[in-house]
Amino acid sequence: MGVNRLPLIAGNWKMNLDHLQAVAFVQKLHWTLKDAKHEEDSVEVAVFPPFTDLRTVQTLLDADKIPFALGAQDLSTKDSGAYTGEISGAFLAQLDCRYVIIGHSERREYHAETDEVVAAKVQAALRHGLAPVICVGETAEDLEKHGAAAVPVAQLEAALAGVAADADIVVAYEPVWAIGSGQAATPQQAQDVCAKLREVVGSALGADAAARTRVLYGGSVKSANIAGFMREPDVDGALVGGASLVADEFAAIIRYQKHVGV
Ligand code: 13P
Repeated sequence: MGVNRLPLIAGNWKMNLDHLQAVAFVQKLHWTLKDAKHEEDSVEVAVFPPFTDLRTVQTLLDADKIPFALGAQDLSTKDSGAYTGEISGAFLAQLDCRYVIIGHSERREYHAETDEVVAAKVQAALRHGLAPVICVGETAEDLEKHGAAAVPVAQLEAALAGVAADADIVVAYEPVWAIGSGQAATPQQAQDVCAKLREVVGSALGADAAARTRVLYGGSVKSANIAGFMREPDVDGALVGGASLVADEFAAIIRYQKHVGV
């Protein structure tokens, strides 16, 4: 974790929790952190519910003054018009979304999102004042053929084409083989790739952006392994899937500083 970067612990719910379940979950997470006297300023917490939950969660965060950032899991490359089923970044901005996940491996795999589509979505997010959480990562086959960094580096270079030096972005290194598998990367593996991704940010956007941009690790993160990742200098947080759906477990991940003294 870099000294001047606020750690970000982000929960990607994927296609889980409807809007009623989302309310119960967010309330429970908030109470759990309050009971534990969690220091709100020490880490930024963000949740990424399905689209149909966003308005409800926005209202709850606002009404109960819950200090979690809100994010969406995807957006359209387009801003409006005849694109049935698509969601505009303009709508997400109206819902007070601060973040939007772009290029998750599940979208690359099941929705055939190419590097070009990912780059267009990054532009769409930035047009609407949303910070893109740009996901990159190699498959097990890529790992064997090209090593860990080659594919994520190429994906990030493509995603950052045409991005301004002062853009507010987040990068997430999510090795595909580690997602949902229970087999996380080692902290050293995550550090090595996250450091290379920071170099890519530096080459594309300059040294200030490289120093400021948070690079997250994602893939089978849990309370038992989060501390190891957060000790690494170029890992600034985590993008958590399965473990972000269990309030006690997600709270323990958010409180990594307490249980290990990082
Ligand atoms: P898991 O934490 O379930 O491995 O998922 C990681 C992920 O894909 C977050 O975006």
